[in-house]
Order: sequence, then C-alpha cells, then structure tokens
Amino acid sequence: MPAITLTTLQSLKQKGEKITMLTCYDATFSHVCNQAGVEVLLVGDSLGMVLQGHDSTLPVTTAEMAYHVASVKRGNQDALILADLPFMANATLEQTLNNSAQLMKAGAHMVKVEGAVWLSESIRLLTERGIPVCAHMGLTPQTVNVLGGYKVQGRNEAQARQMRADAIALEQAGAAMLLLECVPSELAREITLAVKIPVIGIGAGSDTDGQVLVLHDMLGLSLTGRVPKFVKNYMAGQPDIQSALSAYVAEVKAVSFPGTEHGFSA
Ligand code: KIV
Repeated sequence: MPAITLTTLQSLKQKGEKITMLTCYDATFSHVCNQAGVEVLLVGDSLGMVLQGHDSTLPVTTAEMAYHVASVKRGNQDALILADLPFMANATLEQTLNNSAQLMKAGAHMVKVEGAVWLSESIRLLTERGIPVCAHMGLTPQTVNVLGGYKVQGRNEAQARQMRADAIALEQAGAAMLLLECVPSELAREITLAVKIPVIGIGAGSDTDGQVLVLHDMLGLSLTGRVPKFVKNYMAGQPDIQSALSAYVAEVKAVSFPGTEHGFSA
C-alpha cells in the first residue's frame, strides 16, 4: 500500500470511501494495524487511561506522548501517524509550537488538539509552520472536569448550532481534519456535509468520513469494566488479534460499523 497522506484522506472523502483509524501506542500493534490496512494510527492521550491506569487523560505529558509516537513509528510502514497534544501542552502559542514540534520530530505526521473555535489561532500557526492539525470536538476528554463527566455533546439546538459554526471556522483556520467524539449522529452528519476536510467519528454515527476506536476497547480489554455504547468488541468470534483488526477495517469500509445501536440521538 502506498504511504497514506493527507491527500489520500481527502480523496477517500471525495470518493465516499470510509477512512479507518485506531489508537495505537507501540511498535507491535503498529505493525499489526498496518497489516490489517488501518489508514491512520492515533497515538492518543487515552494511553494515560489504558496503558498507565490513570482515571483521566490529564496526567499525560508531551515527553510520554513522544516516546509512544517514536515506538509506533518503528512498527509503521504506510499509515499516517496522528499524535495527541496532551492536556495543557497547548496552553500558550509558544508551547503549542514547541510541543507539536517534539511530536513531529518523534515521528508524527499530524497533531490533534482538543477544543473549539478558540483553537483557530494555534491551528493557523501550526499549519503555517508545516504541522497539519486535526481538531477534536464534541466530548473532549481533557475538559472532562468542565463538562461534568464523559457526556454526549451537542444535544440541544444552541450547542449544535455552535458546533456546526466552530467546525466551519476551524476548517477556515486551516484544520486538515476534524474528529467528533460523542455527538448525536444527525449533527455529525450535518458537520461532515458542511466541511471539505475529512471528519472522523467516535460515537458519532455512521455518516462521518471515517471511524476511530480505542484499540483496547475494540479488543474487548477494559480496566474498569465500563464499556461505552459506541464500542464493538471485535475479538468476539475471531481467532486472533490480526483477524479482529481486519474485521474492524472491513466493517468500517462496508459501513456496517457503527450500527444505529452505537450512536446517539439529540
Ligand atoms: O486519545 C484518544 O484515544 C482519542 C480518541 C478517543 C479519539 O482522542
């Protein structure tokens, strides 16, 4: 498979072919995700919860993220590596630039930042300096304490209107991709149609341009026993991890995952 670039993702959106993304934190899983044809490997700060055992993503540092990005890069062949800027790594513009540069030097091809329209200035700056940005909207786990828990976002009309406007503003600021987490499926569909950049969903229905899941969740592994509604366990009925990953890719491409039971209404 030729290396996946932003141009590849753009053309998948234009063709209407779904984009496959999974979180990934080490070299071996990077290799098996590549074998399964996963197009984007997200080195997510969810590693704070699934690898480190914290009860949120807040303790994760940029140095830890860079360590995992470098590990994923060693196992990677063709996938695009997307890396999270962890909590407060983008507190100032200077920190945003320096911490993003650290992740890119470790092997990322793109960084992800959580937030809304207030991200515009930093997205413009990073893009000008050669760092493509994915803006993560909806349920943003780094602001769980402000949101009052891991809750579906954009359920009322005022919030939905704001999220649609923010998505368009972030595209105009230069965002190369959007990620929508836990938003009603209909709102995710409207945002996907309103922007030209690829929109990836998690708990956002089947009408986004692609899907992402946390690797451990889709392999049926859980520290807490709490499994979000939008997760499907791909180990069920599969003989091994490689087959489970391939089944995920096949179902996302066929638009048979996510089903309506994995989504949220307004
Ligand atoms: O950190 C992460 O794994 C993420 C996904 C939940 C999208 O941001």
